[in-house]
Amino acid sequence: MKSQTYSSLHDVFLLKLQSLYDIESEIIKALPKMIKRATYPELKSGFEDHLEVTKMQKERLEDVFDELGEKSKKVSVDAIRGLIKDVSWLLQQKMTPEARDASLIAAAQYIEHYEIAGYGTALAWAEEMGHDTIADMLQETLDEERQADETLTVLAEHAMNEKALQPMIND
Ligand SMILES: [Fe+2]
Repeated sequence: MKSQTYSSLHDVFLLKLQSLYDIESEIIKALPKMIKRATYPELKSGFEDHLEVTKMQKERLEDVFDELGEKSKKVSVDAIRGLIKDVSWLLQQKMTPEARDASLIAAAQYIEHYEIAGYGTALAWAEEMGHDTIADMLQETLDEERQADETLTVLAEHAMNEKALQPMIND
């Protein structure tokens, strides 16, 4: 197979979009397992909401590819598979529901921060190249990822205040 030489900001931008497209797809596959295993109702519904948002983010990337006159394409990203593998590992451990919820929140925040970094770069590059419409679309997703991260932080604080988690704090 002929290997491509990436030679312009456009080329690396496209590669970044293809990575993000893969990342969103993998998260869509992983979230149902996290929803199933979360116990705290607000966490469960938070993951459910984020699954719907993530599906929209994937579609938004398809619109970005359209804007560029490119086909929606994925490149397989090892890092997101590693982060999701860590979630699977956590879910295999013997944990109380409270400990599992706290671990799921922490794992989800790793993924959010990873996405925030990726979209931050993509947005900066879109702005650099003067792709204003695309920049607006990427900004929208970036805002959603930041919102999801903040929601997780609030949930972590709430969960820690729940009586059920007190034994964990005191242990
Ligand atoms: Fe996302």
